[in-house]
Amino acid sequence: MYSFTNQFMSNDKNIEFLKATMMGPNAMRLAEELASHLNINENMRILDLGCGCGLSTLLLAKKYGASVFAADLWISPTENYERFKSIGIDDKAVPIFADATKGLPFANGYFELLFTVDAYHYFGDTGEMLPSLIPFVKKGGHIAVAIPGLKYEFGENVPGEMQPFWNSEMERTLHSLDWWKDLWKKAQGIEMVDSREMGCCRQAWEEWLTGYQSIVAEDIKMMEAEGGKYFNLIQLIAKVI
Ligand SMILES: C[S@@+](CC[C@H](N)C(=O)[O-])C[C@H]1O[C@@H](n2cnc3c(N)ncnc32)[C@H](O)[C@@H]1O
Repeated sequence: MYSFTNQFMSNDKNIEFLKATMMGPNAMRLAEELASHLNINENMRILDLGCGCGLSTLLLAKKYGASVFAADLWISPTENYERFKSIGIDDKAVPIFADATKGLPFANGYFELLFTVDAYHYFGDTGEMLPSLIPFVKKGGHIAVAIPGLKYEFGENVPGEMQPFWNSEMERTLHSLDWWKDLWKKAQGIEMVDSREMGCCRQAWEEWLTGYQSIVAEDIKMMEAEGGKYFNLIQLIAKVI
């Protein structure tokens, strides 16, 4: 399932590239697992929403030959364009600024697939977000999300080991699979195709902890305290009908 990622990571230069561009659990591995549940091909136009430094974009463009709009809020299109040129995907990937909470600059029905890795929890935790995104995807197309989450809802009972790390953003964004399924059930115009805990959870987190970002030091402490008991990676796939 992870043939592209494993092959990519067999090269020291690529490992350095990953360490410098990961922004959370290894997005290339998450993207490859999520993509393995979809029929992606080179004729597809995909919106990679919240693409960050474009690790999922790289996977979609290189493994599948798809055309990708790589949209992000924090990472500038210019930075991503330079990176896409350096890795040879600038003919397949269009870097673009987007804030999903402010409306997206695309035509209705433009994409076969809206794909989003380790980003949707930042903006998708309201009842309004999914209905606002559905129109951008053609009927018969898919919305596919991979996000960090929890094995169960903490509510008021945040486990003692997690309390030193827990904050209001985590409280807002990290939820259980059932919480997300309940939210998505309320949306009109889609049918759920798949929802599951992802197999790459442990490995993708471990790979992130080798990265160069300054928050890794704190995340190493957090993941030691967490000890595999509470965090999850969650996958949701819906078909637009
Ligand atoms: C943890 S980073 C992950 C980036 C990338 N997907 C990855 O996994 O490496 C979260 C990403 O979500 C994006 N994001 C957060 N809020 C957003 C919004 N409202 N609209 C678009 N992107 C958003 C940020 O710009 C950031 O790049």
